Amino acid sequence: MTFHTPVMVKECLSYLNLRAGYIYVDATTGGGGHSLAMLKAQPEIKLYCFDQDSEAIEEAGKILHNYNNVELIQANFKQLRTELAYRKIKGIDGILFDLGVSSHQLECTERGFSFEKDAPLDMRMDKNLKNSAYNAVNELDTKTLTNIFREYGEEQNAYRIAKAIEKSSKPIKTTRELAKIVESIAGKGTKASLKTKVRVFQALRIYVNKELESLSLALQDAINLLNPQGRIVVISYHSLEDRIVKQTFKKAEQKNEEQSVLPNSNKNHQQQLIILTKKPVTATEEEILVNPRSRSAKLRAGEKVQREKRETKTSRKPNRQNSQEEK
Ligand SMILES: C[S@@+](CC[C@H](N)C(=O)[O-])C[C@H]1O[C@@H](n2cnc3c(N)ncnc32)[C@H](O)[C@@H]1O
Repeated sequence: MTFHTPVMVKECLSYLNLRAGYIYVDATTGGGGHSLAMLKAQPEIKLYCFDQDSEAIEEAGKILHNYNNVELIQANFKQLRTELAYRKIKGIDGILFDLGVSSHQLECTERGFSFEKDAPLDMRMDKNLKNSAYNAVNELDTKTLTNIFREYGEEQNAYRIAKAIEKSSKPIKTTRELAKIVESIAGKGTKASLKTKVRVFQALRIYVNKELESLSLALQDAINLLNPQGRIVVISYHSLEDRIVKQTFKKAEQKNEEQSVLPNSNKNHQQQLIILTKKPVTATEEEILVNPRSRSAKLRAGEKVQREKRETKTSRKPNRQNSQEEK
């Protein structure tokens, strides 16, 4: 079984614009596919590879063992700033986020991510997390579960499914048991019921791994850490992730004049990013044919503004003063 087939590799490399002697981060190294492609394209970079999953770090270690300019870091990407600071890295020149789960995580039965395989309800990417999907399903009240299914799964039958879970006479221990409860509401064997199971399982996974909270924190940290002309590339696989990426990029692109008209605006706001992808880039038909997982992928990229631009703004100040004096 392949651990994971990386998505939109050519597009990632093109937007990352790797330069010899500079520092890069693969925030979600998974099976190391994108990391390896980066190193092959430009062997003279320093690459920090993050993943919160110990199995991913182990696999990436095998794939990347020939490179001594790589450091593997088993950590959540929300720790990006701390982990890099610990290594005395103050700025980076490019970062890639390839969000969500790997094929290995989905297909490895005992990880409990998929309703297609019967396994204990788990879904933790980081096995050190205290609470798994089992805890969520069996310990949260109906209202909270409804909110999770509604917010993270955009599921219309959220309340009815949560109520059916609450009514279960015994603890729900496996993916199949949960899938059966969902089928009791959404029916069995239809496209609609399949989609409901996908949404419910996705919602639980996002909740268990606190995926959206980590993403918001990490994206802003990554943009702050980028050196001028550094690039950020993010591939997302569902609308909730993509919305966060889009909004974070948009905010970072705002010029201070645009900010200052908004209520509660930060007067010290500086434009940080230039968005390179006005619309998200999607996989080609050829790639979707060989790798169906690439169908839902959306890539967005940005470049950190050059310091000179900010300096120009500051250096214009005396002129403005001059012109005021002239008046
Ligand atoms: C789609 S896979 C990445 C595949 C990788 N690009 C490759 O070429 O094999 C997503 C990976 O991100 C990891 N991941 C997801 N959220 C994370 C987070 N908050 N911190 C660190 N790793 C995370 C998952 O464990 C998974 O291995």
